Amino acid sequence: MLQGTSARVSKFYDHHPISEARVLAALARPGLGRSGPLTADDLFEFDQDHYGGLAAVDILARRAGVGATSRVLDVCAGLGGPARFLASRRGSTVVALELHAGRAAGAARLNRLVHATGVRVVRGDATALPFEGGTFDACLSQEALLHVADKRVVLAECHRVLARGGRIAFSDWIAYPSLGERERARLWEWMAATTLQTLDRYCALLGRTGFTAVEAEDTSTEWRPIVRKRLELHRALRADGVARLGEQRYLEYDQLHAFFVRLVEDGKLGGGRFTATR
Ligand SMILES: C[S@@+](CC[C@H](N)C(=O)[O-])C[C@H]1O[C@@H](n2cnc3c(N)ncnc32)[C@H](O)[C@@H]1O
Repeated sequence: MLQGTSARVSKFYDHHPISEARVLAALARPGLGRSGPLTADDLFEFDQDHYGGLAAVDILARRAGVGATSRVLDVCAGLGGPARFLASRRGSTVVALELHAGRAAGAARLNRLVHATGVRVVRGDATALPFEGGTFDACLSQEALLHVADKRVVLAECHRVLARGGRIAFSDWIAYPSLGERERARLWEWMAATTLQTLDRYCALLGRTGFTAVEAEDTSTEWRPIVRKRLELHRALRADGVARLGEQRYLEYDQLHAFFVRLVEDGKLGGGRFTATR
């Protein structure tokens, strides 16, 4: 990965509203009505950083054929929420690969907090996966490859670490032709989003990387109400956000978040779900 991309990604996630601190603060709020030790289930409302929540993880898991004996790699795993969900609900063994030092450490601490034994966090770069060839049965990823400049390299790395017959299933932002150069530049500057692909270009890349049975689905219509609701939730939690991030960062994030939602609502940006076989 380019040094510049990596630095920009780190900067973006250094001050992101979805964080380990926010998860812990949410758990500490009185009135949650929880009894007994914490489990992965207690975190799910707060530890997923993609669109569509657990249902979206479940769709990818189903498409990738993830089951109790699957060795799964979650590429760009964030705080490890989807990885813990797969381990706890499907009984899979999951490696959560994450670039950002703070998020990787946070994911590992959250694992320990809820005794998520089926999940191992590895700090690393999706463009140079620190695993032997053929290590995994499934590679999953959600709303993260937008941060990787060379999509071909990350797809090739997933292809390499998958066993023959293994499946890749991921969701990501997709661009429409109406997305302008200045909007792309702003997405890069504000959200570390780079080299956004169209649905067809992503399919072609998967094919060129050696994947077969490539399937793609445009999820932009599903995403529109979800991204709007997430912005409204962010605004409803303003006091909490300002306390955690400071007024300036809260307002900056609000501005970039609103810009992103407008692009989705205007049909310039959207989502795609992809599956393919090694
Ligand atoms: C929007 S979050 C999604 C996290 C997780 N997939 C989820 O759904 O909760 C994107 C994550 O990708 C990580 N990331 C970005 N570029 C990466 C790279 N080259 N290698 C590994 N992780 C990366 C970021 O640090 C961030 O945690």
